Amino acid sequence: MFKYYHDDCFKILPIIEDNSIDSIIIDPPYITTSESWDKEEVVNELLSEQLFRIAKQSSSLYVWCGIGEKSNSLCRWLPIFSKHWHFKDLITWKKQRGLGNKKGWLYTREECMWFVKDNKKFFWNEKEQYDKKDKRLFTMPNNKSEYKRYTNVWTDIEEESGSMKSSRFHFTQKPVELIERCIKLSTIEDQTVLDCFGGSGTTAVACANTKRNCILIDKNICDIKQSSFYNIPWVDIAKQRVATILNTNKLTEYDKKKLCSLF
Ligand SMILES: C[S@@+](CC[C@H](N)C(=O)[O-])C[C@H]1O[C@@H](n2cnc3c(N)ncnc32)[C@H](O)[C@@H]1O
Repeated sequence: MFKYYHDDCFKILPIIEDNSIDSIIIDPPYITTSESWDKEEVVNELLSEQLFRIAKQSSSLYVWCGIGEKSNSLCRWLPIFSKHWHFKDLITWKKQRGLGNKKGWLYTREECMWFVKDNKKFFWNEKEQYDKKDKRLFTMPNNKSEYKRYTNVWTDIEEESGSMKSSRFHFTQKPVELIERCIKLSTIEDQTVLDCFGGSGTTAVACANTKRNCILIDKNICDIKQSSFYNIPWVDIAKQRVATILNTNKLTEYDKKKLCSLF
């Protein structure tokens, strides 16, 4: 089941049941761009507390953020989420394109803080932790897989680079593969993932691709003038992105029927 809310997440989160969400992935405004939705700090204790309340004991929380002089959301947010959640690890995503002036290191990274609700009961999908594109040269007798395990530095995923009229919808859109990796490691099919800063719905697309349910919240509309989705709520854009998956061959007839029933 997919649920889309065009609303402020601080209004919607309180109506979600306790212990009902299997995992949470969020990409809140970092306050680093000139976009209209990127002006206000939205990460606070109330957000962390609400996410903790609705999460199941086995849940993970992934929080995308930045580190550096201009992008220090990691430093601001880590102490806030750590009040409720158990901090597990930091994933660094190595991007292809760099940012920054000539006096300093070229900035080519983004971070994701991984938290769990309960360090003894969190779910980890062991069979998904091998990179099926990265074969070992040889396997030792006690190695379970012929593939290498994912590390906490991800160098193999390129950022979205299409034009605003094709595959790219949002200025800070995450690649689907990045979100799919978090989903596959921390949930199984038919479980529910929540993203309360949904933007163009990358989390919903990743859920559709991996057969998970999704709750997506975003309070704004697309204000990118050159976009064919100008003035349309982000959650409606997300719905359309998910709908196009119905036309691909990735899903079985059964899955398509299940997804179709949502529209
Ligand atoms: C960094 S963007 C997310 C981009 C998304 N990951 C994607 O791939 O398209 C953050 C989003 O949070 C939304 N937002 C900001 N404050 C919000 C709030 N209080 N409730 C719901 N959505 C909010 C903005 O409209 C923006 O689309």
